[in-house]
Amino acid sequence: MSNQLIRIFDTTLRDGEQSPGCSMNLEEKLQLARQLERLGVDIIEAGFPIASEGDFESVQAISAELKDAAVCGLARTSSADVERAAKALEKARSPRIHTFIATSDIHLEHKLKMNREQVLEEVERAVRQARGYCDDVEFSAEDATRSDRDYLVEVFKTAIEAGASTCNVPDTVGYTQPEEYATLMRYLIEKVPGSDRAVFSVHCHDDLGLAVSNSLAAVLAGARQVECTVNGIGERAGNTSMEEVVMALKTRPDVFRDLDTKICAQEIYPSSRMLSTIIGVPVPPNKAIVGDNAFAHEAGIHQDGVLKAAITYEIMTPQSIGRPSNELVLGKHSGRHAFGDRLKELGFEIEGEEFQAAFRRFKDLADKKKTIYNEDLEAIVADSVIGLDQRFEFVDLSILSGTFAEPTATLALKVDGELQKATATGIGPIDAIFKAIADLCETKSELERFQVNAVTGGMDALGEVSVTLGEDGRRVIGHGSHPDIMVASAKAYLHALNKISWHKSRRGSEEPRGI
Ligand code: KIV
Ligand code: ZN
Repeated sequence: MSNQLIRIFDTTLRDGEQSPGCSMNLEEKLQLARQLERLGVDIIEAGFPIASEGDFESVQAISAELKDAAVCGLARTSSADVERAAKALEKARSPRIHTFIATSDIHLEHKLKMNREQVLEEVERAVRQARGYCDDVEFSAEDATRSDRDYLVEVFKTAIEAGASTCNVPDTVGYTQPEEYATLMRYLIEKVPGSDRAVFSVHCHDDLGLAVSNSLAAVLAGARQVECTVNGIGERAGNTSMEEVVMALKTRPDVFRDLDTKICAQEIYPSSRMLSTIIGVPVPPNKAIVGDNAFAHEAGIHQDGVLKAAITYEIMTPQSIGRPSNELVLGKHSGRHAFGDRLKELGFEIEGEEFQAAFRRFKDLADKKKTIYNEDLEAIVADSVIGLDQRFEFVDLSILSGTFAEPTATLALKVDGELQKATATGIGPIDAIFKAIADLCETKSELERFQVNAVTGGMDALGEVSVTLGEDGRRVIGHGSHPDIMVASAKAYLHALNKISWHKSRRGSEEPRGI
């Protein structure tokens, strides 16, 4: 492969997914993995197979389906971890095992209780074991940026000799600075014996807001793989944002000496929207590249300049990252074809009964609402397509509320196909609805977060609600959308309960997640 190619290693489904509020079920992970393949990422880190049965199953399912991207499973250096990752990757066309151990004295002393020699033995053993299962093995020195750099030379030398072809240098705690990180990268590439047989990789966290800058500095210093996530999601402050790195490389070939990625930039925006819809975490409006305001010119002097010549204030075009026009896209006269095309543009490939169900919802909505925006369509997909077998189905809701009336919800649901009704009162109407639902569904889940987003502007805006529930150490997010925010709230709560019930029916209890 050309030395000018920067490999994009996407860890949205692993490092991203393990961050609070970003968990996804199997169907959702598969849907995103398909989009990541369309996006053109080189490697998809699909999960951490030993962490839970769910992670194992998603790495397995993604491995069985993807054709172009390499599929990677994470493993600590223990033999059981590596074996589990290998098992989950069995069906992958291009499997990669990614094994890691911490190398900083801070981690050795306080976390691992091991000395440097013991860690070297672990690296050697785990990489050899992984090579017994596949040719493509990545080794990461966790907390590399707080590790002794000459010890890191030893560590990576050992990993390469044992058969690793990618050496990852994580800034696990988001501590390093661009110049410092670039210097470390140069040092390692120069000093590690056999470094020419490996691709050096960056994996940065954004605790000081420097993940993208650090990654790009290391690329200039010789790194040829960037680990990143869509929308920059990830542990704590997040990981390096894929879209920012890719567009920086594309927009400044003069600086990056024609280094480029295989990413199809027009798939950046659909990927961002799809992720945000699935996890229910909105993209901040001022987020670079994919935020709502990233291409909105507000100041008069800017507008004037852009109208005269876009180049005055625009360093890239919205079209180049696949942002469709955000004006009216569809209305009640639009047919299946236009509806399907628009969903495709937004990154949703759905067919058969799922497509018909989404189309019916679209028509229902178009009857109530004059203009249907892209965000409305995403909400429809979140509400109906990223679906599950529904134990609890919304049927009807009426609310009594106001300044003097005691808020009262009368709710009808189908529970396992049987129509049931309940009435409850609460501090407010949402409280009353949730009590009625909890009563009918006999749930012991805790409500952790309730979030309302008006997904489109105007008086007839569609409301989208996200509800985060926790039960037995598992956290799920449900989404609901409807022009009536009360109905959207009820649907979001039921969606989350259906997810919990789905997890229970499939897996029983699982080990806690995370590393
Ligand atoms: O941040 C980190 O160090 C990691 C490793 C597992 C690569 O996520
Ligand atoms: Zn990480």
